[in-house]
This record gives sequence, structure tokens and C-alpha cells, in this order.
Amino acid sequence: MSTPVSQQTIASTGPNAEQIDYWNGDAGGKWARNQDRLDAMLQPFSDAVLKLAAARPGERVLDIGCGCGATTFELAAQTGNALGVDISAPMIARARERAAAMKSAAGFMLADAATHAFEPGSFDLLASRFGIMFFADPVAAFAHLRKALAPGGRTAFVCWRPLKENPWFAVPLFAALAHVPAPEPAVPGAPGPFAFDDPDRFRRILTEAGYSSIGIEPHDALLSMGRDDDPVEAALRQSLEIGPLSRLMADLGDEHRARAADAVREALARHVKDGQVMLGGAVWLVTAQA
Ligand SMILES: C[S@@+](CC[C@H](N)C(=O)[O-])C[C@H]1O[C@@H](n2cnc3c(N)ncnc32)[C@H](O)[C@@H]1O
Repeated sequence: MSTPVSQQTIASTGPNAEQIDYWNGDAGGKWARNQDRLDAMLQPFSDAVLKLAAARPGERVLDIGCGCGATTFELAAQTGNALGVDISAPMIARARERAAAMKSAAGFMLADAATHAFEPGSFDLLASRFGIMFFADPVAAFAHLRKALAPGGRTAFVCWRPLKENPWFAVPLFAALAHVPAPEPAVPGAPGPFAFDDPDRFRRILTEAGYSSIGIEPHDALLSMGRDDDPVEAALRQSLEIGPLSRLMADLGDEHRARAADAVREALARHVKDGQVMLGGAVWLVTAQA
């Protein structure tokens, strides 16, 4: 009898063991539970990366750090077939559940993209929406992934620009700072959402990993953080569950938690437009050739 997908697990070993733990703990569960809301919010960046990828029917596509599969489904609809790879068991389980419900041609694999033994030259396109910033050794990971590309193969990635250029991260975080423990000073380039916020560093990494014709272009979009009956409460719930603020809030007592939440609520309420909390997101759109 085959193992039910929800029980599939991945060993916390190899260079990315810390991230495997992280994305199989609370973080993965929260992303899987909030999948609808996050996909709706991040749709402008799906659109941007899909346009950049310009996938054609019949092309073989690998979606790196595919999470619950939003971009993999869209790529599979364009090409007839796409494979999503991710280290998070709860997110891959959610992606497979959705694939079955949608009868999508997308396939999903629970594995570390940085070390999995992909067949050499077996993809025409490596794509990713925010799934490539978590490698402990990014040069080794991107060099490994390049070998999975066929000659002439290409990449289309989207990753975050710096925190201060991303009000959807920064507004709730800064509003809460008086009530939460001070964040650890950021280590530039450490695995995490802002690992590639410096485009020169990312270009060096891709060059050292053997890629050519590297393009890194800025792109901005307004993101709808809450569009329920009560948009501010919806945006507040999301800010407290996902992203840098959720990590700082994790160990707070009830009183501090309530004060921080009040401060974030007040800040988010200033950004309601047409019944939605709208805040800006800023990314790099990254292309390269194998
Ligand atoms: C910010 S989430 C983005 C998920 C999805 N692409 C989306 O946009 O909804 C980052 C994803 O990268 C995955 N990830 C991190 N390191 C990975 C690795 N070494 N191999 C495969 N997936 C990885 C995480 O498990 C997580 O699902």
C-alpha cells in the first residue's frame, strides 16, 4: 500500500538541514493553511515571473521551492507538464491535493532542489516564485541546478528586494517594534527572504555557478493583504502568521502580543483602499542561461 501523501517526510540532513526543519515546522503548516490568501496576494508576482519565463508548449519545467504549487499549476497549463520540487512536506501535500482536485498535469516532488539527483539536461526552464533564497551554499546549489538544464536552457526567478523597499513586510514589522524583542542584526546574504536583495551579489553567485546572460531587473506591485469582510483584521492575521514579524512574535506573552497586534492593526488601517489593505512589494526579476 502506498504512503498517504500527508505522511511523507523528508530527512533533515545535508547542507540545508536547518531550512528543512524550518519549512517542515510551523512555517510550512502556516503557508499551507494560508495558501489561498497568499496566492491571491502574490498573484502580481506570479504574473510577472510567468511572463518572464514565457514557457512554450512541450517545454520541460522545474519549479524550485514550489510550495503549494501556484506557479507550477500555471506553468503546467502552459507547457502541458511541470514538476514542482520543495522541501516542505505540508506544502507538497497541499500542492498534491490541489493537483488532484484540479486534474492538473503538474507533478510534485518532496526533495532538496540543491542536492536532488536530477537527470542531467532534463529541463528547458528553471522557474521560481520566492523559492530560491534559502540555500546554505547558493553557488553550489545553482551550479547543481544548472546541470539539470538542457543546453540553451534558461531560468526565470522572482526574489525580494530589500526590506525597506517592501512596505508589505516593513509596515507591520516597524509598527510592532516597540513591543517585540529587537530582531537579530541581519547577516547580509544569509538564507532567508532577503538573501538576494543585493543584485550584484546575486549576479556574482550565478556567474560563479556557471550561468551567462544574467538579467536582474526591478519590478514593483501593489499587494492586496486583506480583502475579506474585515480587511484590516485579515491583513493583521496574515502579518502575525507569516514573515519576519511572526518570528519575533513567536515567544511573546499575551500582554505584549496584544499590544503589538494593536500597533500593527493601527498601521495597517492607514492603508485601506477600496475595501482592501494595499501595500507595495518590490522584487528582482532574474533571468539567466545555462
Ligand atoms: C517563501 S516560500 C515560496 C513558496 C512558493 N514558491 C510560493 O510562492 O507560494 C519558499 C519555499 O521554498 C522552499 N524551499 C526552501 N529551500 C528549499 C530547497 N533547498 N529545495 C526545495 N525547496 C526549498 C520552502 O519549503 C518554501 O516552500
